[in-house]
Amino acid sequence: MIYADNAATTRMSKAAIQAMLPYMEEAYGNPSSLYAFGQQAKEALEDARSRIAACLHADPREITFTSGGSEADNQAILTAAALGARKGKKHIVSTAFEHHAVLHTLDKLKSQGYEVTLLDVHADGLVTPDQVAEAIREDTCLVTVMYANNEIGTIQPIAEIGAVCREKGVLFHTDAVQTVGHLPIDVEKENIDMLSLSAHKFHGPKGIGALYARRGVVLEPLIRGGAQERRKRAGTENVPAIMGMAAALEEACAHMKESNARLLRLREKLMDGLDKIPYSEVNGDRTHRLPGNVSFCFEGIEGESLLLLLDDKGVCASSGSACTSGSLDPSHVLLAIGRPHEVAHGSLRLSLDASLTEADMDSIIGAVTEVVTYLRSISPFWRDLVTGKRPHVFAE
Ligand SMILES: Cc1ncc(COP(=O)(O)O)c(C=O)c1O
Repeated sequence: MIYADNAATTRMSKAAIQAMLPYMEEAYGNPSSLYAFGQQAKEALEDARSRIAACLHADPREITFTSGGSEADNQAILTAAALGARKGKKHIVSTAFEHHAVLHTLDKLKSQGYEVTLLDVHADGLVTPDQVAEAIREDTCLVTVMYANNEIGTIQPIAEIGAVCREKGVLFHTDAVQTVGHLPIDVEKENIDMLSLSAHKFHGPKGIGALYARRGVVLEPLIRGGAQERRKRAGTENVPAIMGMAAALEEACAHMKESNARLLRLREKLMDGLDKIPYSEVNGDRTHRLPGNVSFCFEGIEGESLLLLLDDKGVCASSGSACTSGSLDPSHVLLAIGRPHEVAHGSLRLSLDASLTEADMDSIIGAVTEVVTYLRSISPFWRDLVTGKRPHVFAE
């Protein structure tokens, strides 16, 4: 099997698994317990917090553990909304291609009287700091723009957007779930007020993540109860998962340079190979994207059939994000960058990790080329394109 769906989730690293085991088998105390056995878990927890903070250039007190990226996104947005409401500011700026954890939270706020401006995304999969500056109003309480898109991998100019927000005195949150552990991040230099991350995207365990909130940004708890996480997130901390997350992040950051150099080579090889398939196009800017992300649209096919046939050939991939595959709606991300419906349906996302090889890329190119050719041969839609009944969207 060739696993090329690392944006959906990753294999846990050995270091992460090793870091978790002692906190399940031996030091399994509750960090809130006052006796030494509990305090041993508490010390480990605080050590993990410091190590995660260091990877982001943050202070440990600025890190709150959550159940993952979705919870961190919800908490960041609802915090800014609550702070804004107290000042009569109920306008939020975001983009049309955010993850649903952001978009659905914004929908909820809209139903509560907030106004949301979703910025258009250019065909290259990028939004500009100027767009953000123009959208900010007197009553804007939050700008939330994802760092790298989960489907097409494009990387936004986060530091520049942060600078615009800082200048205008508006809180800035970024969903960096696809970025943390993959690109270097410095929350101070990049003018970030809040940032979401999730361990299972960088070879850590599932169901654990964190929200960075700059000193002075007082988080609104989503879960109420005990006094854990400085009363910002009640519930006994998942110590083993937190230890696994810290180990995975440290490892990812330590090897980032070599991993990315390798991923870039694999990505270019894969893109060059898939480019040879006629009537196909890369989604989003070719270079300004995550080192491991390859996203294509192919005319005249259905992404779902492509995935199933690739699965038969031992390739795990995705069309759009994991959460939208299974639904028949085309991806909101591809529509946001201006792909027509019929083309957005024929999408493929391959997300690589550094354990893959050049030979794997050859196998993927061979499998995709074969499956696309076959699907087109049985597609009435493709026949219409070939006979000129419908115009092609892409050049050959
Ligand atoms: C950009 C982005 N944000 C948020 C999430 C949600 O993260 P989690 O699965 O940890 O809740 C994901 C996961 O796919 C994502 O890719």
